This record gives sequence, structure tokens and C-alpha cells, in this order.
Amino acid sequence: MTQRVLVTGASGFIGRRLVGALADAGVPVRCLVRRPVEFPGTVETVIGDLLEPLTLPAALAGVHTVYYLVHSMAGGRAEFVRRDREAAENLRRAAEQAGVRRVIYLGGLGETGAGFSGHLASRLEVAGILQSGGYATTFLRAAIIFGAGGASFEMIRALVQHLPLMITPRWVSTRCQPIAVGDVIRYLVGCLFQEATAGETFDIGGPEILSYREMMERLAALTGRRLTIVPVPVLTPRLSSYWVGLITPVKPAIAIPLIEGLASEVVCRENRIRELIPFPLTPFDEAVVQALQEEKTPGNL
Ligand SMILES: NC(=O)c1ccc[n+]([C@@H]2O[C@H](COP(=O)([O-])OP(=O)(O)OC[C@H]3O[C@@H](n4cnc5c(N)ncnc54)[C@H](OP(=O)(O)O)[C@@H]3O)[C@@H](O)[C@H]2O)c1
Repeated sequence: MTQRVLVTGASGFIGRRLVGALADAGVPVRCLVRRPVEFPGTVETVIGDLLEPLTLPAALAGVHTVYYLVHSMAGGRAEFVRRDREAAENLRRAAEQAGVRRVIYLGGLGETGAGFSGHLASRLEVAGILQSGGYATTFLRAAIIFGAGGASFEMIRALVQHLPLMITPRWVSTRCQPIAVGDVIRYLVGCLFQEATAGETFDIGGPEILSYREMMERLAALTGRRLTIVPVPVLTPRLSSYWVGLITPVKPAIAIPLIEGLASEVVCRENRIRELIPFPLTPFDEAVVQALQEEKTPGNL
């Protein structure tokens, strides 16, 4: 049997794009999906669920590398930590039994300590579970990923679109290192071909470090909107998550944990991956323009 790559989370924001990029690179790909999904071209799909371990051996047969792009926040806030833990443990066990050589995981950037959100802690726990398996794990850590359909991007876009005046908590000054979705996909594909990334953890970020305020102001300027931001000290991230939840199209189960994480700085600690997988990073404004264009042509996603 031809050795292939398995993409889990293939129906998601990152997964769909990665499947297309791998297929374009001539990599034999299989997608794990919970319900039937159409992918462009000839891509093999297998119906399975990481929370149902009996569905995994068939998906993993003949697989040398697994991309782990699953998170279960969309299934509701309650218990997402437990579900994500269980999903990662099931994958680890099944991958070991199937003789998988590598797992490539895209998770969140951020440090442990004060203000550390439950969402980031859970993403880190998943990393630890996957890294403890009997194969080589590559862990890529990213902050906000800019692209049409990405939860964090859509939240920021909706705020800028609907609110010309924003009374915000202090998190608007928190620094972040956003990255274009196209650059994330290049890193994910690059890791497959760059053996030196096996068993390693890398921070991945775009070329600019910006506060959330700067990101919203630049997004407003690029979309021709007026925006006045007034930070006030009394609004906690928890409180702001309620009004943000009212404005954005993102489900509260996803929006609230993400907003709770906004108080913590998310900036790359190191840039080693730039030497292993070099390419010119997409500037922030260009990433925004690309995301807005993609949105107008959803067939391209
Ligand atoms: N988006 C960002 O800005 C961002 C930033 C940094 C890091 N990341 C990381 O990137 C990775 C992918 O995120 P994303 O934004 O692409 O997420 P997403 O669009 O919400 O996709 C999540 C995927 O997980 C699948 N899934 C959930 N539970 C599953 C289960 N039990 N079994 C099998 N599949 C299951 C979903 O399938 P269904 O379609 O069936 O629900 C979906 O395909 C995550 O690890 C995330 O932490 C994302």
C-alpha cells in the first residue's frame, strides 16, 4: 500500500487548506472527517471520530505522518478540555499501534503563568499528550491566524465592522504576532519535507508584532471604516467576552475561551523555523487583504 499522510481536522479552517496544499505538492493524502465532506481533486476520505477509538485503525492503516488539527471547542464550552484530552490520547494510542512515524500538531502560542487561559492550557496539554507517543512529534505554536473563516480573525473583523466606537478592556494593548494562513500552510507542508523538524517545537509568527488595538485600527483603515477605541480599566476579559459574543458570528463556545486568552501576550520566543523552512513572510496588511478577498470567493477556501 502507498504510504500516506492522514489529516485530522480536515474539514476545519486550517485542515481544508492543508489538504489542498498537500495534494498540490503530490503527497498522497487521506482525510479523517466525522461526516462526508467534498474536497477538490481526488482526495481519499475516511469517516471517523477521535472520540471513537474503534474508527481509528482503518484511518491510520498505511499512514506514516498524521497532521493533528483537531480541537473541540465548537462542541460546547463545558467539557472541551476533557474531550480534547481524550481525543489526543486516542490518537496517540492508535498511531503507536499503527506504526506512525510522525505527528505534526498545530497548537497555540502563549506562556504559562498569570492570565493563562483555559483554552491555551488545554492546547498545551494536547501537545504534551501527543509528544509522549512512540513517534516523533513536531509542535508548531501560532498566535492569531489571519484567513477567511478563522475564528479569531472573524471575531476581530466583526467587531471592526459593527462598532465604530469601542469601549474595551486593557487587552487591546496586549501584544500579539499574527500570521497569514498561507504562511501557516507553508510551514505545515514544509515540516513534512524537512526531517530536522521532527521531534521539535517551533514558534511560528508573521513579520510584525502588533497590539490588538493596532490590528483593529489597520483592519478598519483597510476596509474604509472609522474606528475609535477607548480602553477602560474596569472591563474584565470575562465581561467583555459577553458583549463580544453578541456582536461576532463566532459561537460563544469558541469566542469566550479565545477572549479570555487576550490578556496574555502571544509573541514568538524564537525563530529557528525561519532557517529550516525559509520563505518571505506575508505582511499583516497583505494577509488582511487576502483574507477579505478569500471571503468573497468561498469556493477557493
Ligand atoms: N484559527 C486560529 O486562529 C488558530 C490559531 C492558532 C492555532 N490554531 C490551531 O490550529 C488547529 C486547527 O484549528 P482550526 O482553526 O482549523 O479549527 P476548526 O476550524 O475549528 O477545525 C477543527 C476541526 O476539528 C475537527 N474535530 C473536532 N472534534 C473532532 C473529533 N472528535 N474527531 C475528529 N475531528 C474532530 C472538526 O471537525 P467537524 O467539522 O466534524 O466539526 C474540524 O475539522 C487547532 O489545534 C488550533 O488550536 C488555530
